[in-house]
This record gives sequence, C-alpha cells and structure tokens, in this order.
Amino acid sequence: MKFSSEKTLFVTIIIAAIVSLQGVTSQSEWHRLDDAVYLVDSITRLDYDQAQALCQGYGANLARVDSDEIQAFLTSFITPPLRDTRCFWIGCNDREVEGQFRWLDGTPVIYDGWAQGQPDNGGGGQDCACLWSSRNNDIHGQWDDDGCTVDRNLICQKGIYNFRLTIPRTNPGFINVYCAVDVEIEGETLSPDDVKLSIGQTLSSSRPISHSSTSLDGEFRNNSFLLYNVTEGDQIFCYAGELPDKNRSFSLATFSAVFDVYELPSGPTAGEISSSSVTVFWSSWIPCLDPGDGPVVGYLIYQQTMEEKQWTMAGRIDSGVGVGDLQRIMEFVLTELEPGTEYNISVSAVREGPGGEGLRSPLVTVTTPNLREW
Ligand SMILES: *[C@@H]1O[C@H](CO)[C@@H](O)[C@H](O)[C@H]1NC(C)=O
Ligand SMILES: *[C@@H]1O[C@H](CO)[C@@H](O)[C@H](O)[C@H]1NC(C)=O
Ligand SMILES: *[C@@H]1O[C@H](CO)[C@@H](O)[C@H](O)[C@H]1NC(C)=O
Ligand SMILES: *[C@@H]1O[C@H](CO)[C@@H](O)[C@H](O)[C@H]1NC(C)=O
Repeated sequence: MKFSSEKTLFVTIIIAAIVSLQGVTSQSEWHRLDDAVYLVDSITRLDYDQAQALCQGYGANLARVDSDEIQAFLTSFITPPLRDTRCFWIGCNDREVEGQFRWLDGTPVIYDGWAQGQPDNGGGGQDCACLWSSRNNDIHGQWDDDGCTVDRNLICQKGIYNFRLTIPRTNPGFINVYCAVDVEIEGETLSPDDVKLSIGQTLSSSRPISHSSTSLDGEFRNNSFLLYNVTEGDQIFCYAGELPDKNRSFSLATFSAVFDVYELPSGPTAGEISSSSVTVFWSSWIPCLDPGDGPVVGYLIYQQTMEEKQWTMAGRIDSGVGVGDLQRIMEFVLTELEPGTEYNISVSAVREGPGGEGLRSPLVTVTTPNLREW
C-alpha cells in the first residue's frame, strides 16, 4: 500500500512538472467530437507509459481511435503534416499477447487504422501504437507499431460526461436510482431531460425510464428514477442525451442489497367475536430482537371469505398505537362482517418507504355466529 501511494505521488509530481513546462497543452486545446474531447499534443514527447500518465493527469486516457470519423478528425489537427515526421501515441498496444492489439480498457482493436504493412513488430519489440503525421501520404493519419520506450507525441481523450450513480438500499420489488451527470464544458449544466436511465440485459435492448424527481447538485444534474419489476440480470445504464451507440459514454451498475421486510412468525390471535365483528391481536416488531430490517411503521390487516377468494384489506394501523413500551400488543377490530361466515384473517408488517410491505402472516380462521342463535 505504502509503495503504491508513493508511486502515485511520484507520477503526480512528474505530471505537475510537465504541465507547468508545457503551457501549450492547456485545456483550451481540447477538441470535441460527439461525447468526447481530444488533445493532440505535438509539443510534449514522452514514452508510452509516461504519455498515458500525462493523459490520466487530465482525467483522460491515450485516445481510442475506433472509427474513420475519429481517425479523420484527429488527423485534421496534424494536417498539413508537421515539418518533421512524427508519430503520436494512441491508446492501444499488444504487450499482453503479441499480435493481439487491445485498447486500454482491454477490448480488442477491431477498427483497422493501420498503415499498409503494419503492425509488423519490426525488430521484434514494437508493442505500442501511434498515429503518423507525415508528408508521405501513404502513412499520414495512419497507425504504426513502435517500441514503447521511444519518446513520441501523444493524443489524449476523455468523455465529456462524469457519471455518478447512487443506489440506496431499498425495499424489495423496486429500486430507487440516482443518476447524476456533470458535463465538462465550462458554464454548461444539463437540463432534467438530458439525464436518462434505462434498464435491461444490454444497452441496446434496454428500456428507458422517466425520472421521478430532479435536482442540481453542484455541477451535477441529479435525477432520481424508480424502477419496478426488475428482473435478475438486468443492468442499469445511466447516460446523457440519446441512447449511446458507443458503449463508453454511459455508466453501468447492477443492483444493490434490498431490505429484509419483517414477516409475523404466527397469525394474529382472535379475541371477541360478534355476528358482525372480530377483534384480533398480535405482537409488534421488536427492534434488535426480531428478524428483518426496521423500522416497521404500520400493519395491514387482511380478510378472506369462501365467497371472495381474494384477500381484501380490512384496514391499516400505525405501529405507534397499541399498549406497551418495547413490545406493543396491537389490536384491530374487523367490522361489517357477515353473520354465520368463516373468515381467514392475516396481518402484514410495513416498513418505511415505498414497497415496504412484508409477506402476510400465517392466517387465523374465525366464524362469526349466526344471528338466529341469539
Ligand atoms: C444525488 O441525490 C442523492 C439523493 O439526495 C444523493 O444521495 C447523491 O449523492 C446525489 N448525487 C450527486 C452526484 O450529488
Ligand atoms: C409490475 O408487474 C405487475 C405484474 O406483472 C404489474 O401488474 C404491475 O403493473 C407492474 N408494475 C409496474 C410499475 O410496471
Ligand atoms: C461494449 O463493447 C464491447 C466491444 O464492442 C463489447 O464486447 C461489450 O459487450 C460492450 N459492452 C456493453 C455493456 O454493451
Ligand atoms: C382459509 O384458508 C385455508 C388455507 O388456505 C383454506 O383452505 C380455506 O378455504 C380458507 N377459508 C376461507 C373462509 O377463505
């Protein structure tokens, strides 16, 4: 641990020194294309690792050049070609497996931006990729592989969005997600409709969700989303603007823990019974002793008859009522019952927050007396 923090500090000092020497590599030279900005630095010369460290100091990485559009865009900043032939480090190498170039995030290089005959691992030690600025039109704006320890110019890239996903613990059955996005353009903040969330197995098959509230937290546009009926394996995608087709411009999360909602271990006890009412009792949830995550804020009382097979809610009471300190005896009177009828009665506990109702308790069966018998 100690070693790694010293190393971090060391790199930071190098970057600070470079940044102060190279006034030219200022933020104002970043050029925007889609959701990313690029810095084409034709002044600094560093080896591949130092170049990546410099980019990281800007919150960026060596550039990922994975389309004609990006390649042409970057080439436009070194056209006409610089007087002396140069190659600019970009963010792919084959250090891990010779001949298998990968971007810095580990994904394979599929787009072919190589100059004719490259990569050739010339001399046996060429593992890092760079993009030519050359008066030789055959290679200008195209890639070569080179020794990673050679000092070269560099191209950094970073997304213009910073994502912060917060997923507080919730009750089962739904999830509350905060998707907050900051856009790294001075003086610009996102409007509520710019920050979006979708859910599904993959980005392209995900379904968008409307936000339920929004706030501005510093530079971050912070939207909250309520997700119901989440399927296991679903992922959450937070992004800005349109559904991104390039899968680096979003933030991804999977679900976090849910609260364990209390279930009464046994059914309520029946007390006084009349032809139209039944009194039931049960013990309240006891913090620290009973299982489940509290606080339990109330109870729902259900009834069921042979005629109506469905459970219907007979009422709701607050956990504050009832007699006793730690453990309260809860009491509820079911009224407007039919005489001479069998009723199943069950109680569920409700913890605070949406979706806080637990499973119904085991049931108690009571039969109201017939009127004629009186
Ligand atoms: C967004 O709001 C939630 C709830 O207030 C908060 O927990 C979270 O930290 C906020 N995110 C940011 C980036 O401010
Ligand atoms: C969740 O699913 C249930 C049953 O499939 C459905 O009745 C309910 O409307 C859904 N809720 C939402 C918010 O989509
Ligand atoms: C992102 O793209 C890579 C390569 O194209 C792909 O393998 C990966 O599955 C994608 N990730 C998502 C979350 O779509
Ligand atoms: C009560 O519940 C039991 C067990 O589920 C069921 O067999 C019975 O029919 C129910 N009685 C009424 C009145 O719903």
